[in-house]
Amino acid sequence: MENASKGRLIAISNRLPIVLVKTRSGWMVKPGSGGLVTALAPVLRNRGGIWIGWCGCSNGGEIDEILKEAHRHAGYSLHPVVLSEEDIRDYYYGFSNEVIWPLFHDLQTRCTFKPQYWYSYCNVNMKFADVAARYSREQDYLWVHDYHLMLLAHALREKGVRRKTAFFLHIPFPTTDIFMKLPWRAQVLNALLEYDLIGFQTQRDRRHFIRCLKLLGKDVRIRGRGGVVNVIIGDRQVRVGAFPISIDYKYFVERASSREVADAAWYLHEALPDRQVILGIDRLDYTKGIPERLEAFRNALRNFPALRERVTLVQVVVPSREEVVAYQVLKAEIERLVGEINGEFTRSGWVPIHYLYRSLDQTELLAYYRLAEIGLITPLKDGMNLVAKEYCACNLEENGVLILSEFAGAAAQLYRGAIMVNPYDVEGVSSALYAAFSMKHVERKARMKKLRRRVRNRDIFWWVNNFLMAFLSKDLHDFPEIEDYMPDIQELPDQVL
Ligand code: UDP
Ligand code: G6P
Repeated sequence: MENASKGRLIAISNRLPIVLVKTRSGWMVKPGSGGLVTALAPVLRNRGGIWIGWCGCSNGGEIDEILKEAHRHAGYSLHPVVLSEEDIRDYYYGFSNEVIWPLFHDLQTRCTFKPQYWYSYCNVNMKFADVAARYSREQDYLWVHDYHLMLLAHALREKGVRRKTAFFLHIPFPTTDIFMKLPWRAQVLNALLEYDLIGFQTQRDRRHFIRCLKLLGKDVRIRGRGGVVNVIIGDRQVRVGAFPISIDYKYFVERASSREVADAAWYLHEALPDRQVILGIDRLDYTKGIPERLEAFRNALRNFPALRERVTLVQVVVPSREEVVAYQVLKAEIERLVGEINGEFTRSGWVPIHYLYRSLDQTELLAYYRLAEIGLITPLKDGMNLVAKEYCACNLEENGVLILSEFAGAAAQLYRGAIMVNPYDVEGVSSALYAAFSMKHVERKARMKKLRRRVRNRDIFWWVNNFLMAFLSKDLHDFPEIEDYMPDIQELPDQVL
């Protein structure tokens, strides 16, 4: 890397790819969950760069030693930003997850616009800027991720620290009508304009952002066409682009082809003879449309009796943000619906919904992807949804059908092969389920081939190269891999250090 670029690639996100949990026997290191970690880990793996973020707890001191151990495995170093209990409450749970997360997913009625959340967000962005300044040099490239850190470039400038900075938003950017509800809308937009490059998941998100700039009275001129344009505001010029994030396709195919995953898939399917498996996998989140999906499944069982005893819905819910009341309420609602539907339809030898509330290890996750005949991915709104892409990559037999929400970022790329649905339309999703169940092998194959080709040609390395080209006129090869390969953190079992 030194020879080509002289600068290092420094990723900064709210979370590091691991979460530290204090137990009675020591620190437990767990892989982080969510699309950001899945996408970034293979990009940084073995490149000797740096990842700056929060490790999920409020302790300082001992963490450095533990992170050094994780660093050995990852091939890049991890530097923690230490957050206090108040920071976690007001910046993370508060501003990030009770203001920006619901607002940017079009759910403004779920927002709590408390001023103290905003002040904490400003302070914590300053804390991240301190750590970024400490661990970076002027020639490094800071690549900042997601909605927690929209003020970071601005915070660096306030401190007089000059760095090349780019920002990628993993979640959607809302329409003007919704964004304008944010009491700190002008501050957020102005701060974003301090980045050299701003990336969104889709053209639609980028369009919304530019409209918001115009609406806030900026004299905005757009130069150029295509995926990345120059936005000129006064004497400032920012590049703004759409870069749909993806997965390490080759890695998923190889792992799904392994004997271990094949055996696990075989055992799981043996337990469900003569059934088509419908798979839903989501973090516990109200944006994922899980209750609406369960209602659609109930509707399908009621209206299409041919489905009874012939399909099983495996719904995996990965615990997330469990301290937030809205998430606790959602969990209770999901469990109530699962109970009701199973209570109504279960027959001897057939339980319609298998509900798993836990994080899966990679073998189990890939086994489910591999065996499921139908992938049911129906978020109410989603930046991208990597589960949709992972499902296609792992469908080695090419006999799976993807049912996909129109409101997932992935829809822009996958609409040709998937059955597209409006997740709010219970009857529409229910009919899509029946159509998928009845779909002939030839059509399944043709659709899945299209989907897999699309994911293969636009994989995570395509994404990162596009982004780095727009940012630095360099691609990932300019940050060459370091030699001694160690397994990725995501592959490690939970361990007590
Ligand atoms: N995932 C995980 N643990 C699990 C199940 C899934 O880490 O038990 C991963 C999954 O492989 C995917 C990510 O979580 O890469 C979810 O990303 P997505 O973009 O679908 O949604 P997000 O959680 O980021 O909103
Ligand atoms: C989404 C966000 C990520 C976030 C992840 C998990 O993927 O885009 O930034 O890390 O959800 O959520 P959490 O709040 O646990 O970090």
